[in-house]
Amino acid sequence: MVEPSDHRILVTGARGQIGSDLVTRLRELYGQDSVIASDVQGQGDVPSPFLHLDVLDQLGLHQAISEHSITTIYNLAAILSAHGEKDPDLCERVNLGGLQNVLDASREYGCRVFSPSSIAVFGPDSRPVAKQETPLNPTTKYGFTKKEGEKMMLKYWEDYGVDARGIRYPGLLSWKTLPTGGTTDFAVEVFSKIQAEGEYTFFVREDTKLPMMMMEDAIRATLLLMEAPGHSLSRWRSGYNVRGMTFSAAELADAIKRRIPSAEMRYVPDSRQKIADSWPQDLDDSFARLEWGWKSTYDLESMVVAMLEGFA
Ligand SMILES: NC(=O)c1ccc[n+]([C@@H]2O[C@H](COP(=O)([O-])OP(=O)(O)OC[C@H]3O[C@@H](n4cnc5c(N)ncnc54)[C@H](O)[C@@H]3O)[C@@H](O)[C@H]2O)c1
Repeated sequence: MVEPSDHRILVTGARGQIGSDLVTRLRELYGQDSVIASDVQGQGDVPSPFLHLDVLDQLGLHQAISEHSITTIYNLAAILSAHGEKDPDLCERVNLGGLQNVLDASREYGCRVFSPSSIAVFGPDSRPVAKQETPLNPTTKYGFTKKEGEKMMLKYWEDYGVDARGIRYPGLLSWKTLPTGGTTDFAVEVFSKIQAEGEYTFFVREDTKLPMMMMEDAIRATLLLMEAPGHSLSRWRSGYNVRGMTFSAAELADAIKRRIPSAEMRYVPDSRQKIADSWPQDLDDSFARLEWGWKSTYDLESMVVAMLEGFA
């Protein structure tokens, strides 16, 4: 049993959708002072300890790790899919340059690293169901950075022994922090708009079906992977498929309407439709199940109940 004080954790991009929930959970597990939240944005309402830290600032990163005796880094700093297609250079700088800085510093200080990948690593040839070993042919800049990030993490593990681990998250659903800049954001926005205004316009077609997961499950998967013994992990260690659930926009709308018959929903696809059409509709996560015991808990119905309650 590891004593909480043995874990000294740095979370980059901590103000984002995942960081907000992950920092809370890590602090419950390891103690408030053992988890340093950081972001390029100001502290906002994130409880201390908090550092203003840009992952592109190599020196700042080294200082943070050394001053706080960091043993583990959760690197959540990133530019997501929809933002990434609008500013591909920034997307590449942060998602790959930032990751490289984190890996280099981890090599020097012996830190374990978690850095998320995404279903965006897959291209249209992965449809309908992407397997773990399906070839990665992303058509977006964001997907390219995630594919190259997985390769970089594996290389740092194989060549320098940096214990880097990652998950190909599907679209993540939470009522605590609204997502911004992602292609699966509609599956969260719909709940907040229906509860506040009674109507919502999806920015994708009704038959758009994508893999999704409740944030609670995503955090559980993350911690399960990070606690797994190193010897149980294979060459997929930097990008495991994990399955939560899958549904089309119309199936989501139906599930909401069954509970709120007055809800009005329309479909007006925008530029994000093209990104959604390039991603798989579902995932095969056999390797995560076999190697570190992954199993999701939510399905469409239990997710809809939880999200409607969360936004009520
Ligand atoms: N949310 C999802 O549905 C989803 C799905 C698949 C993968 N992911 C991955 O999970 C990770 C976290 O995603 P998220 O949803 O929390 O994203 P987010 O956009 O909500 O948060 C990212 C955070 O990174 C910060 N950031 C941006 N540039 C930075 C820099 N240079 N230095 C430090 N911080 C910086 C931002 O201020 C923001 O707080 C990303 O790697 C993302 O690609 C997320």
